[in-house]
Amino acid sequence: MLIRTRHRSECSHSEVTPREVYARRREFLRTSIGLGAGLALGGLGMSAPAAAALRGYELEFEPGDFSTDESKTSLDEITSYNNFFEMGPGKSDPKTYADQLKTDPWTITVDGLCDNPGEYAVEDFINPWSLEERIYRMRCVEGWSMVIPWIGFELNRIIEKAKPGAGARYVAFESIYDPDNLRGQRRRPRASGGLEWPYTEGLRLDEAMHPLTILSVGLYEEVLPNQNGAPIRLVVPWKYGFKSIKSIQHIRFVEEEPPTLWNQAQPDEYGFYSNVNPDVDHPRWSQRTERRIGEFRRRRTEMFNGYGDEVASLYDGMDLREHF
Ligand code: MTE
Repeated sequence: MLIRTRHRSECSHSEVTPREVYARRREFLRTSIGLGAGLALGGLGMSAPAAAALRGYELEFEPGDFSTDESKTSLDEITSYNNFFEMGPGKSDPKTYADQLKTDPWTITVDGLCDNPGEYAVEDFINPWSLEERIYRMRCVEGWSMVIPWIGFELNRIIEKAKPGAGARYVAFESIYDPDNLRGQRRRPRASGGLEWPYTEGLRLDEAMHPLTILSVGLYEEVLPNQNGAPIRLVVPWKYGFKSIKSIQHIRFVEEEPPTLWNQAQPDEYGFYSNVNPDVDHPRWSQRTERRIGEFRRRRTEMFNGYGDEVASLYDGMDLREHF
């Protein structure tokens, strides 16, 4: 879905960026994502099927629906202060060891309780969908937050294509498992702080269908950097950052609430829902405030990370202290 609505207070990047630079960026992004298909650069000399394979990467640099007009966190901070435990526990580890993530080739399997399962090369998985920019507030459970201009498409596109059956109530996600290359996966499970690989996450089907939930393949007009979850990751902006699983290889429709990495490791600290909620403290610290990266003074954290108008009704009648 390509939403051309422009936010009142914003102008498009095409207006602030010289036209040649803008055009080159578009070409760069399209080409880089399509490299897995073994294509020539720049659209020149491409065979007809190759050109078709790239068509879905045409970008619109206008904010899509739901974008915030708050100042964006810098590209440098978004790509150098990360959580990606497959590369180590430190915030700078993901950038330092980003090369350990091998993304080409990359296959995504969609299966479980659905009528139209499939196994896709990532290019074919992304290609049918037009991409748009969504500028989302992201809030980490550790108390920091960022504003990130993601490029992606709604997860509901994939779900509609897969046609989940009546029994499907949840969507389970799985990241890459590659201990030969990923240093963080080399240690034995349980012996390494209780993390069981691969990284797993899950959403209720209606949360996964919500138009705020996107799969991202880029940010700041660039192909998604490895440390941010290349080649494709989930972004769920009303939940703590750990729900936004990176480097997805498997999407499965299931009947029961699926196990998730953090809930398995520390069930008292990380519930399945993990909605941003200033009223429910983490057992070891308060969730009332957050530090926006790049700012000095802490801000008050908003319920559902400020997306309450859009998502609160998903939880009508639920006790969010119990279902934290
Ligand atoms: N996905 C995988 N596969 N591995 C991870 O360690 N960390 C999570 C989430 N997705 C993580 C992951 C956590 S704790 C956070 S806060 C966000 O990714 C961080 O995303 P960012 O580094 O792009 O800001």
